[in-house]
Amino acid sequence: MKVYFDNAATTAMDDRVIEAMLPFMKSHFGNPSSVHSHGREVRNAIEKSRKKVAELLNATPSEIFFTSGGTEADNTALVCGVETHGITHAISSPLEHHAVLHTLEVLEKKGKIKLSLLDVNSKGEIDHGQLEKLLKANPNSLVSLMQANNEIGNLNDLEKIGGLAKEYGAFFHSDTVQTMGHYAHDLKNLPIDAIVAGGHKFHGPKGSGFLFVRKDKKIHPFIHGGAQERNMRGGTENVIGIIGIAKALELAYEDMSGHQAHVEKIKKHFIDKLTQEIPGVEFNGLSADLGKSLYTVLNVSLPPSEANRGMLLFNLDLEGISASGGSACSSGATVGSHVLRALNHNPERDSVRFSFSRFNTVEEVDYTVEKLKELYAVEA
Ligand SMILES: Cc1ncc(COP(=O)(O)O)c(C=O)c1O
Repeated sequence: MKVYFDNAATTAMDDRVIEAMLPFMKSHFGNPSSVHSHGREVRNAIEKSRKKVAELLNATPSEIFFTSGGTEADNTALVCGVETHGITHAISSPLEHHAVLHTLEVLEKKGKIKLSLLDVNSKGEIDHGQLEKLLKANPNSLVSLMQANNEIGNLNDLEKIGGLAKEYGAFFHSDTVQTMGHYAHDLKNLPIDAIVAGGHKFHGPKGSGFLFVRKDKKIHPFIHGGAQERNMRGGTENVIGIIGIAKALELAYEDMSGHQAHVEKIKKHFIDKLTQEIPGVEFNGLSADLGKSLYTVLNVSLPPSEANRGMLLFNLDLEGISASGGSACSSGATVGSHVLRALNHNPERDSVRFSFSRFNTVEEVDYTVEKLKELYAVEA
């Protein structure tokens, strides 16, 4: 059996997304900046996609900028947010994705900002009181806190954080790469200035993404060049990526609650089975708390085992199960997860992130738990 439980790294494309993209690889090949009919038909398709994304998120089309993915969108919001709004202090957390953490660290190294990282407890929770104290002491800050952590699934309360950011005049950016297409976003009413998306996390194409920036918090461009994206991102558009991400988001919204119910059932079954079958199993962060974590992610901490130490992902792979030890960029690398380190996770225990999509089944969970039982029975 082949099982793909690494959907937080990337997802399989939906066939309907591929169908929507195909004409733009064949007959509709014009450059959207060309004024002739070949160009105009592609320009129209891009603007239709922008309108679709804006409608789904309750935003306006002028607030949506297509990018090459979540990383570029995060970089744009942070670097240009700081520059445009004269910001000299940023507040974030050690659990952020490297697309945010490394960008903020570079800004600090260049002397543009002072960076304050919030403390987190062993479950990865932040303290809103500490956030408020920092905001009070540093007016005109940038706050960057993700909606859901990609490794442990912890959800942040965007309403609460955004409310505090607004009260103290801060620019609030949230990395929503793991929640876009999985939860509904109502951007007219959410107190947030910038959010981001990567199409490949919700059955769209890799290398596609977008940035939302609220219209009264406009920022300078990150990539300079032609007048594409209303002068906000130079370069000929990734047309197929734009068509694909808009279609993928449309499909995600079409049956979001059905999708959520299906994936939650899989996650709950996994938690129950592991708890019953693997003595000493634990769950990292809040990932086993269905009300406080992203429903697509379960981060499992297994009891110390000589046979599996450092080999767990490899052993699972041999059984046809694809999972991950952390974020996609650190899986395969020898450095451990910065998120688990921040939680003071016991290095004697191996951890594995299983992440799900609507294409997974309960049978795949049963197969995986059977294999884990075999792997951990070696020493029984
Ligand atoms: C939370 C988070 N932010 C940003 C990214 C980067 O997104 P992209 O791959 O679209 O550049 C990822 C991808 O793993 C992620 O999980």
